[in-house]
Amino acid sequence: MRTPLVVGNWKMHGGLAEARELASGVRDGLKRPRGVEVALCPPFTALPAVAEVLAGSPIGWGAQNCHWEDTGAFTGEIAPGMLAELGCRFVILGHSERRHLFRETDDDIARKVAAALRHGLQPLLCVGETAEERRQGLTFTVVEGQLRAGWAGLGADEIARSVLAYEPVWAIGTGVNATPAQAAEVHGYLRGLVSELASKETAQSLRILYGGSVKPDNAAELTQQPDIDGALVGGASLQAQGFITIAKKSASRGGSSKE
Ligand code: 13P
Repeated sequence: MRTPLVVGNWKMHGGLAEARELASGVRDGLKRPRGVEVALCPPFTALPAVAEVLAGSPIGWGAQNCHWEDTGAFTGEIAPGMLAELGCRFVILGHSERRHLFRETDDDIARKVAAALRHGLQPLLCVGETAEERRQGLTFTVVEGQLRAGWAGLGADEIARSVLAYEPVWAIGTGVNATPAQAAEVHGYLRGLVSELASKETAQSLRILYGGSVKPDNAAELTQQPDIDGALVGGASLQAQGFITIAKKSASRGGSSKE
């Protein structure tokens, strides 16, 4: 049984006034979300304001990155404990923009995942292939490598507290989403791997989100695929109404959890 999860990744958008307005809009439009869990991941600086707006509502919040150490001389970094202190439920890790623009390695990401779990955060690990890798037939090899590396050293109970996101790099911010069939194929493959790395039960309960040009008009066909358990939304999460529509379209049919 998996309740779909829809997460808004605001990336580097939103000063305080915009963040408050956007979070309030989402909160007011999703007072009692049925059959879907929703969270917002604003920039670090907006987290306290967003937490204040969302406190007491069913909408959760999280961050877009964290460091792996608890404290120390790491100028410009944010520790997972600092995020937990702000009430964050999630932290996005291994996003393709972190991997490609900021040269994060699989080893960095694995350390971040482990640190997030130590602090009671749910790491939302992102995996995905580039257009070139897909052309070369390497999609499964790439996502498998990223998953095995990102979860290296974790026990089955830790994996069970995690979330996965399949975000093909070629679909991020391009307006070209994976087709439901393309996404479903990779999600099915990832679920098989979760079964191997943790257990069959964990594979059945772990949520695997799809991300990459999810919009109000394609959300339903993607998230109603059997192995797609919600969405990680970038650009379309910056408009409250559109994001609310995506969340509603991602809800399980009948408002109950997917089998
Ligand atoms: P877009 O929805 O803008 O394609 O971004 C996807 C993404 O990177 C979410 O993490």
